[in-house]
Amino acid sequence: MITSKLPNVGTTIFTVMSQLAAETGAINLSQGFPDFDGPDALREALCRRVMDGNNQYAPMAGLPALREQVAAKIARCYGRQVGVDSEITITPGATHAIFCAIQAVVRAGDEVIVFDPCYDSYAPSVELASGRCVHVQLKDGDFAIDWEKLSAALSPRTRMIVINTPHNPSGALITREELDRLAALIRDRDIYVLSDEVYEHLVFDGLQHASVLAHDELYQRAFVVSSFGKTYHVTGWKTGYLVAPPALTAEARKVHQFVAFCGVTPLQWALADFMAAHPEHVDELPAFYQAKRDYFCDRLEASRFTFTRASGTYFQLVDYSRIRPDLNDVDMSLWMTREHGVASIPISVFYQNPPEGQRLIRLCFPKREETLRQAAEKLCAI
Ligand SMILES: Cc1ncc(COP(=O)(O)O)c(C=O)c1O
Repeated sequence: MITSKLPNVGTTIFTVMSQLAAETGAINLSQGFPDFDGPDALREALCRRVMDGNNQYAPMAGLPALREQVAAKIARCYGRQVGVDSEITITPGATHAIFCAIQAVVRAGDEVIVFDPCYDSYAPSVELASGRCVHVQLKDGDFAIDWEKLSAALSPRTRMIVINTPHNPSGALITREELDRLAALIRDRDIYVLSDEVYEHLVFDGLQHASVLAHDELYQRAFVVSSFGKTYHVTGWKTGYLVAPPALTAEARKVHQFVAFCGVTPLQWALADFMAAHPEHVDELPAFYQAKRDYFCDRLEASRFTFTRASGTYFQLVDYSRIRPDLNDVDMSLWMTREHGVASIPISVFYQNPPEGQRLIRLCFPKREETLRQAAEKLCAI
C-alpha cells in the first residue's frame, strides 16, 4: 500500500460539479472558464507560429520576446522596471508559478499563512514542501483581512504569507493601504509574500488593482503571479508568469527547471505577438467583464438570491438564505444543478473550517450573454 503524501486531496468539487453539469445538462457556472474564445488574432498567431516551425523547447525562463512584453506591461500598469532576464519567468500556468515559489522558500516545519476562503492549490504545495498551512479567515461579509487574526497567526516559524487580489472566490480587492499595513507588519521579520494576482486586469467600478509590483517595500520580498489564461480568455493554454526580485527568481527557477523546464513555445510566441500588437486588450478588460457582471446581476435582481456585486474577478457570490436556509452550500449546489439546471461552487470548499451557517455559492460569469440570460432565468425561477 502506498502512503499518500497528500492524504487529504481527493477529487475536487470543480471536477464533481462540472461532471454533474455535463450529466444533467445544467448550465455550468461552476468552474472558472469562459464559454467564448480568446481573440481571433491571438489564435491565428498560434496557428502561424506552429506552422512556421516554432515547436522546439523555449528557453527555461521563457521566450525573451514574451518576457519583454510582460516587462513593458508591468512598467505601464504599475510603474516598475523589472529585469527581463533576472525577474520574469514564464511558466506553464499560474499554478505552476505558485508551486515553484512555495518550493523555493518553504522548508520542513515552516508555516505559511493563507487566507480562507482560498484557492485550492496553495495548501497542497505547502504540504509537499513539508511546511504547514496556517489558515486565517477573512472577515465575514466583505472578505477583508482581519488584522487581529493575522497578527495572532504570525510566529517565528512563519516563512510566507499568501495573498490573492482580486480574490477568488469573493471578488474582494486588497487596497494599497492594506499592502502598506502588511509591509509594516512583517518589516522586521524574515517572511516572504506570495501575491496571486491572476485576476489583476478584472477590476470594476473604476477601482484600481493594488499590485505588489507597485509596492517598493513589499516587492523586495515578494513572488507575484499572473495568468495569461485569465487575461486572454484562454484558460486551456495554461500559461502564466512569475515576477520576483533576482535572488528569489533564481531560486524559483531552480524548481521550475526540474518540474517543467519551460513553457510551451508556440503559445509563448502567440502571446508575445498579440501583446505587441494589442496592448489595449488589458485596458479594455475591466469594461468587458463589468458589462458581463452587470448583465448577469441586473437579471438576478429579480431573484430571491441576495448579493453585493463583485469588485473584481469573474465570480459573483450569492447568498441563498431566503431560498433554502435548510441546506448547506454543498447540498444547495447539488440541488440547484439537479433540480434547477444551474451548476455553481459552494464556497465552504475554500475553507479549512467553513463558518457556521454561511449560505454562499459562487457563480462564474465569463459567459456569453445568451448563457447568462438563460442561467439568470433559471435562477429567478428558484
Ligand atoms: C486565484 C487563482 N490562482 C491561480 C489560478 C490558476 O491559474 P492557471 O490556470 O494559470 O494555472 C486560478 C485559476 O482558477 C485562480 O483562481
